[in-house]
Amino acid sequence: MRRAVCPGSFDPVTNGHLDIVSRASKLFDEVVVAVLINKSKRSLFSVEERMDMLREVCAEFPNVKVDAFHGLLVNFCRDRDIVAIVKGLRAVSDFDYELQMAQMNSSLAPVETVFVPTSPAYSFLASSLVKEVATYGGDVSGLVPERVLPDLMARLRETRDGEKQG
Ligand code: PNS
Repeated sequence: MRRAVCPGSFDPVTNGHLDIVSRASKLFDEVVVAVLINKSKRSLFSVEERMDMLREVCAEFPNVKVDAFHGLLVNFCRDRDIVAIVKGLRAVSDFDYELQMAQMNSSLAPVETVFVPTSPAYSFLASSLVKEVATYGGDVSGLVPERVLPDLMARLRETRDGEKQG
């Protein structure tokens, strides 16, 4: 059993993430999509909400599971018998930091990082940009799974209304 992890914040999951997860699911026997629990970072969706969305959009891949982790990714890998970390590379600009993390992780534990080039259709995609564009009325359908779009729009509306009142 060769198990890999696709780690990230997934706030929210985008079609770019899904593309990488789908391709990783063809390379490994099992893929764990792992949501980082990061209490110091403000997120739009709770970890549970992000995991629910991921479970639904990944349901079409029978060998993909969804989990969450905190602390070091390599510890999660060790505990779950995960041999590889799969990361999407959107552009050369991603490479510097991703290489540094891959080398740090492999210095900490026997885990390989596998880089998958992002499909050109999604090379500009980031959850943060999706949220910004949607906040100002831009069309983000086609950038996030259909399941995510209504929740994203509703949460941005709630946030905006909350800010107006507060
Ligand atoms: O979607 P993101 O926020 O770009 O994902 C970043 C993530 C979760 C992959 C990265 O921050 C991470 O692995 N964090 C876990 C903490 C850790 O192991 N840090 C050492 C990395 S060398």
